[in-house]
Amino acid sequence: MNSKPLRALAARVGLIRPSEAEPPPPATWRDFPRESLHHFDEPALPLQPYGVPVPSYALRTSAGTGDLAMFLGIGEAWAQIVSRFLPEAPVVLDLGCGCGKLARFLHLNPALRYVGVDIFLPSILWCRRAFEGSKDRFRFEHVDGRSVTYNPDGAIPTTAISLPVEPGGFDAVVCGSLFTHLLEPDAVHYLGEIARVLKPGGRAFISLHVDVPPGARFVGDEDRIDVDEGYFLDLCAAAGLEDEQRLGVVYGQVVRLLRKPR
Ligand SMILES: C[S@@+](CC[C@H](N)C(=O)[O-])C[C@H]1O[C@@H](n2cnc3c(N)ncnc32)[C@H](O)[C@@H]1O
Repeated sequence: MNSKPLRALAARVGLIRPSEAEPPPPATWRDFPRESLHHFDEPALPLQPYGVPVPSYALRTSAGTGDLAMFLGIGEAWAQIVSRFLPEAPVVLDLGCGCGKLARFLHLNPALRYVGVDIFLPSILWCRRAFEGSKDRFRFEHVDGRSVTYNPDGAIPTTAISLPVEPGGFDAVVCGSLFTHLLEPDAVHYLGEIARVLKPGGRAFISLHVDVPPGARFVGDEDRIDVDEGYFLDLCAAAGLEDEQRLGVVYGQVVRLLRKPR
């Protein structure tokens, strides 16, 4: 089995172990060569004329998991949840959109308009190209926000970011595994921004890690933040977002549904 694509295929269908197909991937996504983020799709999954391509392993890893089944499973789970609460012809903001894990499923609703915002430029550049055919309704914006983990050379502290979208323009704001990377002042600022850009009656979907030691409220760094759930709801209320529902645990993160009052 000499050719690389053949070895990859053999590994995919279980004929050989993945370790025989390719050298092991680097330990963390930060160790990938920068150019690998721009590989346009999985070599084994070629571009289709009307399909949204699959981002490279490296790019998927930067958004939480390189594993393709997990990438698709998480994206579909979020799309199922969010879609349950959307009006007809919805307008959705995906804050911390990564490389389109959710967007690729929301895209299946032809009436849905979408803006994805992220501070990790390779993801935004990739998404713009991947969704080029739908750019009238799917838009991707980069903000040069600073994060030790995702954009250490960013020019703007998150607390100074004004989201580059229409105020009061969104039926839903989705934050999948974003607040799990925001320090407390950044989280407070973004809750205010979410309230600002939601329509009255619009909803926010926010996932959290909630494993705080007794007595602690907000712990960790931009690699992983845990927050006390009750304290987080207090921060939401202070920003003008009402608690509507605890939607459960999705792939290890608690998801809260919040609403901007009418
Ligand atoms: C774990 S990934 C999740 C990405 C995406 N929501 C998903 O589920 O695939 C976290 C994302 O949040 C982005 N991010 C981190 N801090 C941010 C900030 N202050 N503003 C916008 N995006 C941010 C990162 O660049 C990264 O793409």
